[in-house]
Amino acid sequence: MATDAGNPLPRFPAGFLWGVSTSAHQIEGAVDERGPSVWDVFTAEPGRVKDGSTAAVACDHYHRYPEDVALLAGLGVDAYRFSVSWPRVSSPGGLDFYDRLVDELCAAGVRPVPTLFHWDLPASLDWLERDTASRFADHVSVVAERLTDRVGKWITLNEPAEHTLLGHALGVHAPGRRLLFDALPVAHHQLLAHGLAVRALRAAGAADIGIANSHGPTWPASADPADTEAADFYDTLLNRLFADPILLGEYPAGLGELMPAADLSADLKVIAEPLDWYGVNYYAPTLVGAPLGTETEFGGVPVPAELPFSVREIADRPRTDFGWPVVPEGLTELLCGFRERYGDRLPPIVITENGCSYEGLDDQERIAYLDAHLRALHDALTAGVDVRGYFVWSLMDNFEWAEGYARRFGLVHVDYETLERVPKASYHWFREVLRAQR
Ligand code: NOJ
Repeated sequence: MATDAGNPLPRFPAGFLWGVSTSAHQIEGAVDERGPSVWDVFTAEPGRVKDGSTAAVACDHYHRYPEDVALLAGLGVDAYRFSVSWPRVSSPGGLDFYDRLVDELCAAGVRPVPTLFHWDLPASLDWLERDTASRFADHVSVVAERLTDRVGKWITLNEPAEHTLLGHALGVHAPGRRLLFDALPVAHHQLLAHGLAVRALRAAGAADIGIANSHGPTWPASADPADTEAADFYDTLLNRLFADPILLGEYPAGLGELMPAADLSADLKVIAEPLDWYGVNYYAPTLVGAPLGTETEFGGVPVPAELPFSVREIADRPRTDFGWPVVPEGLTELLCGFRERYGDRLPPIVITENGCSYEGLDDQERIAYLDAHLRALHDALTAGVDVRGYFVWSLMDNFEWAEGYARRFGLVHVDYETLERVPKASYHWFREVLRAQR
């Protein structure tokens, strides 16, 4: 990839929040020290995870968190985004772990930024049930009451769009359902859970609340109306289904009627509870066209032929080891488009995830990827978009869901035999970026 990585990055505003992200199921391990989640059940089924692995040990972060916090401190980040495992919190002593982790982070001068749900639903619960939203609010209250004295920034849900689509519509993530459009209640119940969580957090005295949603520009495969309509529909599902209710208090046209709600406007009022900031996870744009009558593929995920769109390959772009196209300017386009669509209803944005999978310790491609995306992000700032922070996915290599351990997104390499952590070239590079920005 042609790169500017040798030149210093432009300056980001004072107070800009620099961080890295992880999630509980992907790094913690210690599955026997908590109740089961839908991901434990799913990975135990043969054929679900490409390399047949599970997250039973993962990075063993549960036992090695002091070493990981030392890596964070060495990196010099302001903040660390991690997730709180709901099944762990529901297990005896589980919340103590997050208490210790938060203490360790505070002692190291790193701000803890917990995500309250990152896909590892307790195995006894189901997002098809409306009651799961209230159960989530109870979980949030328990966590907030314990941690809010030391936690000053919160995330309700991670990527409810992917959890709905991959987990319930396409069946490639836990809980492995293939409901296609019958998965829409899962979207509504997570949105409701989000709104109830915002209220529960504020009731517990927590402040600075956001959500981490996945977004990316949708590019139509051609100017042909069949392609632009298909792209528009895909864009609605990925970019608007979760953002419109939260930011505008309404579903995109035609979708509200499909949601299971006795009183939709009452639900939307909860869902649109004002946020302090809005988190965006950005990886790449999607090129979308009319259905082709055959299965297509999106980032390793099969897109069934019966859907009203197909996903096409973005040509002439470098690709990550995962096969995802590298399109930094897609981030500028996305953020500028967001500002146009939501205007004054858009709170400040934080990039809660951005990163790529590459092999090796001398990961020059990751450096080039991150460098180019930071420049693209700066372009959005220059264009007037209010972005307050940026988190790299991920601090360390981890369990990449249905891909198992084959995809390495970390700034730190993890040897899954010995569990040794070794900072990669990108870790050293990011540390210098952070130093230069101080
Ligand atoms: C989004 C998810 O939040 C995270 O769990 C995942 O590992 C990364 N993207 C990379 O796929």
